[in-house]
Amino acid sequence: MKKIALINERIKTFNKIIYVPGDKSLSIRFVLIGSQAIGKSIAKNLLISEDVLSALNLIKKLGINYKLNKKYCEIYGKGFNGFSFKNNSVIDAGNSGTLARLIVGLLINSKKTIILKGDKSLSKRDFSRIIKPMQMFGQNIKSKNSKLPLLIKGTKYPRPINYTESKGSAQVKSCILLAAMKTPGITKINSVASRDHTEKLFTNLKLSIKIKKKNNFEYISLKGNKNFRGFNYNIPGDISSSSFFIVLTLLSKDSKILIKNVNVSKSRTGIIDILKIMNAKIYIKNKRIYKGENVADIFVKSSNRLKAINCPIKMNSRAIDEFLLIFLVCSLAKGVSKFKNIGELRNKETDRLKFANEFLKKIGIKTKVSKNSLKIHGNPNLKLNKNYEIKNFDKDHRACMVSIIAALVLGGKWKINDIDSINTSFPKFISILKKIGAKIN
Ligand code: S3P
Repeated sequence: MKKIALINERIKTFNKIIYVPGDKSLSIRFVLIGSQAIGKSIAKNLLISEDVLSALNLIKKLGINYKLNKKYCEIYGKGFNGFSFKNNSVIDAGNSGTLARLIVGLLINSKKTIILKGDKSLSKRDFSRIIKPMQMFGQNIKSKNSKLPLLIKGTKYPRPINYTESKGSAQVKSCILLAAMKTPGITKINSVASRDHTEKLFTNLKLSIKIKKKNNFEYISLKGNKNFRGFNYNIPGDISSSSFFIVLTLLSKDSKILIKNVNVSKSRTGIIDILKIMNAKIYIKNKRIYKGENVADIFVKSSNRLKAINCPIKMNSRAIDEFLLIFLVCSLAKGVSKFKNIGELRNKETDRLKFANEFLKKIGIKTKVSKNSLKIHGNPNLKLNKNYEIKNFDKDHRACMVSIIAALVLGGKWKINDIDSINTSFPKFISILKKIGAKIN
């Protein structure tokens, strides 16, 4: 893929049916949990992107074999004690926060020391959020300022823990759950609600997990040390990838799109609920349930009477990866949109709150930003005709893709750098856009 995208014209009216690739969160979980099964696990529609390839390379380095082709992926799991590697081996999570956080959970019982590293952006991110609970389990972790690289050594006798997770982070919750899975005794987690794919997979694998949900809080208990056999999984499309097309359609003229076979788990559909409050025409069709996950087709129509939102805090975690897109919609909605408690956006692949604020200013939108909040003064008549360049975003895939969507709906002449960053989550993004009619050089 070329490193720069040049976009000089708006997308024309379209009416299309598309599929987006498999869900990234589920793909990474499939690889990691499959590595712990006894025997072969098979996934169809696994996302083939850099983050998932990093997960596959990583388990390979830990002695777990896999087979990957266009149709399916097989992981040959060896159970809870199946990792084998040399002392001081180095494993690389690339750009993926999810992979880096979750693998530490699986290393709870590693007998040798291992070094976990990541790329430049991942090395700037905080790991204290998992170091603390993992140390409570008895894992040894050394680091400088709680950043990568981490020096990790597991424990022979992990202890179950009671932990309160207050950030609404599914990565932290899942890291703890993966460690708890390999720990005798009952681990309890009280967590601000966040995506619950790990819990659903555990339920399907018949692990001893109990979950209660109340007032945006989850109370989970897991009795560990129960083996499971290899399993099959048909990974539905990614709502986060779909969201770029949802917003593209909403903000384009007289257009329609049907996105088929998407994971619309309640823990992931914050963007749909937020945009619907803003008057977006989004319809969920053909609903079904697959292994506990809600799957459906999403139909979207251009929507020109968008109004501002005062975003309820309890939606934050459910829309965590989609805020850049939501902010773009707010820039064209009537009124002032307000977002509170969104400081977690500063801890993503780039500081997304900073990026959003600078981006919105660049396109002439008035904003007010604080450490933890953002106000956006929408302008329904916004039309651009100048030159715009997007750079310095730590190669954040979502910052890059949202810039491309903005360029396609707002007009002006755009130069977007480092578009190879898109490969971390959605290598087919540009080709699907082109099929819909986007002109991108
Ligand atoms: C993810 C959880 C979220 C999300 C990330 C994927 C996951 O991170 O931003 O892209 O698969 O568990 P946090 O748990 O840090 O909010």
